Formats: sequence, structure tokens, C-alpha cells
Amino acid sequence: MRGLGGKVVVVAGGGGIGAATVQRLVEGGARVVVGDINATHATELAEGLRAAGHACIGTGFDITDEASVNALVALAVKEFGGLDALFANAADLQIIHQDSNVLEEPMSVFDRTLDVNLRGHWLCTRAALPELIKRGGGSLVYTSSAAAVMGEAVRPAYAITKAGIEALVRHVASAWGKQNIRANAVAPGFVMTPQIQASMPAEFREQMLKGTRHARLGEPSDIASMVAFVMSDEGTWIQGQSLGVNGGASFF
Ligand SMILES: NC(=O)c1ccc[n+]([C@@H]2O[C@H](COP(=O)([O-])OP(=O)(O)OC[C@H]3O[C@@H](n4cnc5c(N)ncnc54)[C@H](O)[C@@H]3O)[C@@H](O)[C@H]2O)c1
Repeated sequence: MRGLGGKVVVVAGGGGIGAATVQRLVEGGARVVVGDINATHATELAEGLRAAGHACIGTGFDITDEASVNALVALAVKEFGGLDALFANAADLQIIHQDSNVLEEPMSVFDRTLDVNLRGHWLCTRAALPELIKRGGGSLVYTSSAAAVMGEAVRPAYAITKAGIEALVRHVASAWGKQNIRANAVAPGFVMTPQIQASMPAEFREQMLKGTRHARLGEPSDIASMVAFVMSDEGTWIQGQSLGVNGGASFF
């Protein structure tokens, strides 16, 4: 892929999809700072990639804490001299199991979901934008979900955060597009991350596969490829979009 080489990218949230994206980006020649609340995971991911000759730094960070988000971006600027792109990807997928419905859900579950999955992405935007503008432009990519538009009977807070991300994308594109800032979301269908592989009952996977117009479910690398494409110089006409990567799923 043309136009990733030398770019400085922050990946905010380096779990299943995040880790695959970090790998895809460094393989394309980008220099990457990856942050995750699981500091051990982020540092070990980066160490492994550095051992393979790539430019990658891993660090702990909390997307709900403005100072921590600012420090993540500042680390990229200090170590690599600026910022060209940020991938806002973190979500709390532990609490999603308590995200039941508007009557029964504890407000603490709603608040935490919004804090990580939406307010955190707002904070990433605030931290990254000034650095991208200084650079003369850049790309913000966010992880949304098919849930943003499904209208399920469960997981309302999660869906609200993803719909909110898509609104944020359109705002950023409208406000800063003329300054060469691009904002886009990638909306995955069902992706078999290592965590999902380990925890999801086989019957649920079968049900998801039935609703997918494809022979298999998604892999983290499927999403990573789209994020890398949107961030690269090949994706410069893509602006203000939510791009579904879901194997043609029809379960929504
Ligand atoms: N896997 C899927 O099927 C699927 C489908 C649609 C959308 N998504 C979205 O993809 C993104 C990545 O999900 P994933 O499936 O790779 O799951 P994941 O749990 O492996 O990745 C999420 C990462 O966010 C991190 N995180 C959680 N809270 C944080 C915080 N406060 N600060 C910093 N990091 C924090 C976690 O530690 C984890 O590494 C999420 O935004 C998720 O909503 C996933």
C-alpha cells in the first residue's frame, strides 16, 4: 500500500483489532505508539514488533483520563517528531454484558460505557487535532460498530456510543476538512478476536455466521486492512464516512 511509510500513528486501544492494526501499520512502514489500559499488553506488543525491526512504542494509558490521553499523543510527538494519524479504538467490552436495557441497566453501566467508548474518543480527538493541524493535515479513524444502526433490544448504551462516534466523525470532517483533516469510522461486523474466540459459545458463532453473506466470520486483520487503507495516501478522498467491514452481514 502506498503512503503509510514514515507516518506517525497513535493507536488508542491495542486489544484484538487494535493489535492487528498496529501490526498492519508498522508493516506498511508507519511508526506507531500504541496505548492500552492493559500496559503489559501494549508494551509486550510493541517489544515484539521492535524485535522484528519495526518502529513501535507501547505504553499504558486510560482513555477516560484527559491527562493520560494527552500524554499518549505527546509521547508520539516527542519520540517520532509529530503526528499524522490516530486510531481511536478502545472500548470496554467487559461491561457490555451488563448493558441490558433502558429500564433495568444500572446507571453506573451506562456511565462507564459512555465514558470509555464515547467520551474517550472525544478526548482522543481533542488531543490529536492540534498536532494534525500543525502537520498540515492528517487522519482520524474511529472504531464504530454495526451496532450503531442495528437497533437491538439489548446493549443500548454500547449502540449509543457507536452512533455518537459516527456523529463525531461527521462533525470533525465538517469543521476541519478544509484544513486537510480527515475523520472516518470503520464499523466492524462480528470479528473473531482472541478474546471472543476464547469466550463465545459455539452456537452464538454459528448464529452470527448464518447472518453473514460470507463463508467465514471476520478476523482482526480484516479491520486492520481497512484502517490502514483509510489512513494511507490511497485513502485521501475518503472523508466523513462510516465504512462497514462485515462480510455482508445481514443479522442487523
Ligand atoms: N470484535 C468485534 O466483533 C467488534 C465488532 C464491532 C466493533 N468492535 C469494536 O472494535 C474495537 C476493538 O474491539 P476488540 O474486539 O478488538 O476488543 P478488545 O477488548 O480486544 O479491545 C478493546 C481494547 O480497549 C482497551 N480498553 C478498555 N478500556 C480502556 C481504557 N479505559 N483505556 C484504554 N484502553 C482501554 C482494552 O484493554 C482492549 O485492549 C472496540 O471499539 C469495539 O467496540 C468490535
